[in-house]
Amino acid sequence: MKVAIAADHGGYEYKEAIKNLLEEMNIEYKDFGTHEGESVDYPDYARPVSESVADGSFDKGILICGTGIGMSIASNKVKGVRCALVHDVFTAEVTRQHNDSNVLALGQRVIGEGLALLIVKTWLTSEFEGGRHQRRIDKIEGGCS
Ligand code: RB5
Repeated sequence: MKVAIAADHGGYEYKEAIKNLLEEMNIEYKDFGTHEGESVDYPDYARPVSESVADGSFDKGILICGTGIGMSIASNKVKGVRCALVHDVFTAEVTRQHNDSNVLALGQRVIGEGLALLIVKTWLTSEFEGGRHQRRIDKIEGGCS
């Protein structure tokens, strides 16, 4: 599995912690920045990660900002991306099983680091269940009327 990861200044510290987790899990990743804690614009980081997942260069993406909301809104503008904003372990698992989410958004100012790392671990190791859930995803990709 190859993971693309990025954060703005509001999520920089958790990005570094998640990179350590990915190394412990022997998961290959690319850090799309930001590489310092300076103030930046989250769409500039959401877009390259999301596009690299949508075009198949990476299997999954992880985006962190202060709330996770800006990153998730920006990420879901990219066709083929299903970005889930997650702040608990239950939805981390179920969004993989039911939504086949391919990008995870987290808010560094919302939850503690231990929970954030458990969410990442759960999300990365949970599998899509397919079946009726695939039909529903197909309806999203085809547009909902
Ligand atoms: C930056 O201050 C903050 O707005 C950003 O990290 C994020 O929370 C946006 O949704």
